Amino acid sequence: MRIAVMGGDGFVGWPTSLHLSDAGHDVHILDNLSRRWIDTELGVQSLTPMDSIQERTRVWHAETGRRIHFHLIDLARDYELLKNWLAEYRPDAIIHFAEQRAAPYSMKSDRHKNYTVNNNINATHNLLNALVELNLDAHLVHLGTMGVYGYSTVGAAIPEGYLPVGVETTSGETVSQEILYPANPGSIYHMTKCLDQLLFQFYAKNDGLRITDLHQGIVWGTHTEQTRRHPQLVNRFDYDGDYGTVLNRFLIQAAIGYPLTVHGTGGQTRAFIHIQDSVRCIEIALNNPPARGSRVEIFNQMTETHRVRDLAEMIAGMTGSEIAWLPNPRKEAPENDLVVRNDKFLGLGLQPTTLQGGLLDEIVEVAKKFAYRVDRSRVPAVSAWTKDIAKTINRDPEGKKLKSVS
Ligand SMILES: NC(=O)c1ccc[n+]([C@@H]2O[C@H](COP(=O)([O-])OP(=O)(O)OC[C@H]3O[C@@H](n4cnc5c(N)ncnc54)[C@H](O)[C@@H]3O)[C@@H](O)[C@H]2O)c1
Repeated sequence: MRIAVMGGDGFVGWPTSLHLSDAGHDVHILDNLSRRWIDTELGVQSLTPMDSIQERTRVWHAETGRRIHFHLIDLARDYELLKNWLAEYRPDAIIHFAEQRAAPYSMKSDRHKNYTVNNNINATHNLLNALVELNLDAHLVHLGTMGVYGYSTVGAAIPEGYLPVGVETTSGETVSQEILYPANPGSIYHMTKCLDQLLFQFYAKNDGLRITDLHQGIVWGTHTEQTRRHPQLVNRFDYDGDYGTVLNRFLIQAAIGYPLTVHGTGGQTRAFIHIQDSVRCIEIALNNPPARGSRVEIFNQMTETHRVRDLAEMIAGMTGSEIAWLPNPRKEAPENDLVVRNDKFLGLGLQPTTLQGGLLDEIVEVAKKFAYRVDRSRVPAVSAWTKDIAKTINRDPEGKKLKSVS
């Protein structure tokens, strides 16, 4: 297949591009490299030393003889460029990662809120609009988030996208319907993913676009089979307070002797998936497209759920780290349960990498190896969900006054 990977320079996009190229597909990355600019804005860098995208693709070619092509295009702003590219290359499938994906970054200031909404919604809409205009029947696979469901305890398993409901008619009968599971975003970033869902629903219904939406859990780990092949193929690893995801942050905190930062009671339960499983799921989704004219296919792309304080305690037990109990910068339920259905990927052959099985390797191989690159002042999470909450998070776990970027 000819596959366009939108956002293929990022944390999930890069290993996905390698995986699909390795499987024999003709892979084209479209990326505006905004994620690298955001590192510069925040004064942080990936824990792992990342080369330029051109250098990464050159090394991949030298290692494997296979080519991954790179095109510098902003999906949100360069509509004509995007449309012309799609018209010329006519991909069979498109994987859409090209969005601003950090909830804390999206809540930093009014400017960051505007940027996240403009970038994410325009990127998704430009893509859908161009597919219709060009009459291009490419299968679109989007990376959404488990966060669209919200994190409140419901006492029932979260289904894969659609909820069966009974609606009482005016004549008093009950008719059955399946509706999109009620959206319940917890940040501006999550809100854009909820809006994406509506765009997909409309374009599948109105124009028959073939769309798969993957509601992904928090991705952990760094390496996949392909990124291990050469030091310059290494994946990015974010550890900072905005882009670092909870488990990866605990790993690096343990490696540098920094207290594990638990916000609130740590009673938040979240869904997780290893990066290797994430790229496998995307391949499975590509191989199982919905039929033209059918509704959006939705998968829950996660393999296990954990409570944040249990994760911290597990890693503290393995490494002897302390735990710092900090005020929560987010506005969210202090405790929640989360039960998630993921039968579809399991039924299609996914064999999950479990956290217990993969964790120690990650600590030793990646976190300790590159610990010398960490800027400790960038570890705390400083983006607060409201101005009132901001007043409560002014010290880091080592007692220093926090710097904030906005
Ligand atoms: N990382 C996770 O834990 C996680 C969890 C759930 C869902 N997701 C979703 O998966 C996708 C990829 O996440 P990631 O962790 O790889 O993020 P990332 O920030 O590392 O990668 C996103 C890539 O998209 C590019 N990009 C952003 N806006 C663009 C635009 N307008 N035009 C072109 N390129 C653009 C960035 O430069 C970057 O290379 C995101 O949509 C995210 O919402 C990620």
